[in-house]
Amino acid sequence: MLIEVTDLSFSYPSSGPILDSVSFSVEEGEVFAIVGGNGSGKSTIARHLNALIPVQAGTVKVAGMDASDPANLYPIRRACGMVFQDPNNEFVSSVAQEDISFGLRNFDFPESEIPRIVSKSLSQVGLEGFEKRDPHSLSGGQKQRLAIAAVLALDPKAVILDEATAMLDPEGRRQVMDLALSLKEKGVSVIMITHFVEEAAQADRVMVLSSGKVLALGTPKEVLVREDVLKEARLFPLLPTLAYLSLKKEGLVAPSAPPLSFEGLWEAMCR
Ligand SMILES: Nc1ncnc2c1ncn2[C@@H]1O[C@H](COP(=O)(O)OP(=O)(O)OP(=O)(O)O)[C@@H](O)[C@H]1O
Ligand SMILES: [Mg+2]
Repeated sequence: MLIEVTDLSFSYPSSGPILDSVSFSVEEGEVFAIVGGNGSGKSTIARHLNALIPVQAGTVKVAGMDASDPANLYPIRRACGMVFQDPNNEFVSSVAQEDISFGLRNFDFPESEIPRIVSKSLSQVGLEGFEKRDPHSLSGGQKQRLAIAAVLALDPKAVILDEATAMLDPEGRRQVMDLALSLKEKGVSVIMITHFVEEAAQADRVMVLSSGKVLALGTPKEVLVREDVLKEARLFPLLPTLAYLSLKKEGLVAPSAPPLSFEGLWEAMCR
């Protein structure tokens, strides 16, 4: 297991309990979605995986390293990189290559290696030749791909996308999603925090959080069709699921597991 979180509980200095005995694990190369309403604790989990806040109760292990050991702080940050919601807040420089080099220098990569790594990571995200571009001149989708390139340059085991598509238009979202899903083939795990059920539906597994507790955890087909779970997590079902549920209420389809796809809806209607 790449990431193992066991009975993690947490509160901020001025807050009540934010995480309440949260347990989950993420395999190498797995796309793991975390969904839940505002304030349910998603970003607080992300901060633990990136060793940005200390473990108070329970355990967090990333690539075999215990997050409560201060010696593991920087190795964990490198193993598990993070991309945030606002593409305009992620850049330190007005030249794309400098933004990627900045992270590499922080982790003491040899100066002679840096240009090669910068070019490689830009091409991994489909931004070849963008070395000299000003990040602020890029589209939202390109900005987020550049932010992902800066993380990939460090050769991480996992990438956390904390609502990285929230501010993008549909095309930008598609670009970032395609890139996230392609990381799987490189054996990089993706922890995808999102409010979009259609994005979570593309993950291998989904964890639903509500008030800092795990409400459900399983494959999208198991989790994202449960009316009770979606309602409590304040998520809107996908269209095929919604159509099936209303047909079922009218007695127009035989009871079965609700579908996540239009193919599934069609099958249910034919039965
Ligand atoms: N630094 C902080 N100090 C005190 N309370 C905090 C702090 N950061 C977050 N919180 C509180 O912790 C709770 C969980 O916040 P968190 O950011 O983890 O939620 P989230 O699920 O990511 O929400 P959103 O969907 O809005 O991003 C919220 O009630 C929030 O107000
Ligand atoms: Mg958040």
